Amino acid sequence: MKNILITGGAGFIGSNFINYILDKRDDYNIVNIDKLTYAGNLENLIPSQNKKNYKFIHGDIINTELINYLFEKYELQYVINFAAESHVDRSILSSKEFVVTNVLGTNCILDVARKYKVKKFLQVSTDEVYGSLGKDGLFTEKTPLSPNSPYSSSKASADMLAIANYHTYELPMVITRCSNNYGPYQFPEKLIPLMIINSIHDKKLPVYGNGKNVRDWIFVTDHCQAIELAFEKGINGEVYNVGASTEMENIEIVKLILNYLKKSESLIEYVTDRLGHDRRYAIDSSKISNTLGWEPKYSFEDAIIKTIDWYLSNKDWWNRIITGEYLQYYQKQYKN
Ligand code: NAD
Ligand code: DAU
Repeated sequence: MKNILITGGAGFIGSNFINYILDKRDDYNIVNIDKLTYAGNLENLIPSQNKKNYKFIHGDIINTELINYLFEKYELQYVINFAAESHVDRSILSSKEFVVTNVLGTNCILDVARKYKVKKFLQVSTDEVYGSLGKDGLFTEKTPLSPNSPYSSSKASADMLAIANYHTYELPMVITRCSNNYGPYQFPEKLIPLMIINSIHDKKLPVYGNGKNVRDWIFVTDHCQAIELAFEKGINGEVYNVGASTEMENIEIVKLILNYLKKSESLIEYVTDRLGHDRRYAIDSSKISNTLGWEPKYSFEDAIIKTIDWYLSNKDWWNRIITGEYLQYYQKQYKN
């Protein structure tokens, strides 16, 4: 059995990963520590919550004492670090929590992992650390880090701390850098769930700038599978880019959602652009394909429909979010 600490496992990707992995394998004991910020939701974990090899701990990754205690109590040997403040727009409003969790929190987990001589530390990172592309080219693992937002800067800092731990202390560590995810349980502040829910409610769809910014989309389960492979077979000290070669302009996605839901394009509202808005992301994932044999299984055409249908069938899930914490958070942020 592998005793694995998963951080941030109540968020979008972390919960998809736990549900995916516990459904598939019985050689993982998972301890999931999550602070349950606005983005953490234990409902996402209903498929896993009663499994005997799953344990939830409500806590903060910056709490060194608690992390030490968990390593002792559960004899942890592995870490997969998902926990983060993840939304670029929030980081533009206020960067402090991003530095606290993404930088200091990751540093804390790295310190404890090193002390307990973990067998593998997987840092879940993002393609945003590479900055923005022009019309051509792809991010490779050799692309210099050039983050532009407070969020991506904090993630780049976390990556550098993880790399420093490998070089300085030989911590067995790998990093995955994935492109934009979509799928079930994504918090409705991110483009795709926000646009689906606003369309369902006949509310305006706020498209930043001219809508021509490009993101490279991947279905969340494909990302989870890449993490599993990098965790099991990734070479220590290596970075693996993950993406499904699905570049889309934001406006194309918004129109696709409206079209599928049979809503009018007059709901589209072009609004003031995001500050420092990265123009284009596009990932070269040939390294993980050629060395670890990873390939995405879901086509965008099928998985976006699967995702829209999931939101249509799970209105209770997102209604609870929209009417509760989510609104309160935004009211507080935007009033101050
Ligand atoms: P999310 O915001 O949905 O979830 C983050 C989770 O971390 C939440 O459950 C939250 O409660 C928890 N958390 C936050 N601060 C914490 C703290 N101090 N201690 C413990 N738990 C804490 O994010 P996500 O979209 O699931 O992203 C997960 C990871 O994947 C992040 O590291 C993100 O940078 C990375 N990533 C995301 C994407 C994407 O498209 N969403 C793409 C590439 C990489
Ligand atoms: O690339 C990976 C990153 O993808 C992850 O590291 C981040 O955690 C994740 O949030 C995501 O970042 P983005 O900023 O690309 O995602 P977001 O869904 O916020 O925005 C996607 C694009 O859509 C972006 O160009 C901004 C635009 N957008 C977004 C929102 C929320 C709009 O036009 N209108 C909106 O209301």
